[in-house]
Amino acid sequence: MKSKILVCQGISCKSRGGDNIFNEGENALGDSKDKLEITRCNCMGNCGNGPNVAEETRDKTTIHDFMNTEKIINLIKKILHATK
Ligand code: FES
Repeated sequence: MKSKILVCQGISCKSRGGDNIFNEGENALGDSKDKLEITRCNCMGNCGNGPNVAEETRDKTTIHDFMNTEKIINLIKKILHATK
């Protein structure tokens, strides 16, 4: 199973930059979409710690809170590096 990054687009996370985080993440992914998927998602119920991003792998889901564009770029680089 390909890993997946879900970027929350609920009202709270979006108002804190969720849209930009998704766009920067998609740019960082570039032509590696066969290795990792990035998608938007609805509220994860963790609004107070947003913007939130979930990382889904075969065996677990990890929530990364207080996200920003720099952090998502680093997260994607880390995942892509690990799947080489
Ligand atoms: S809006 Fe993102 S967790 Fe609720």
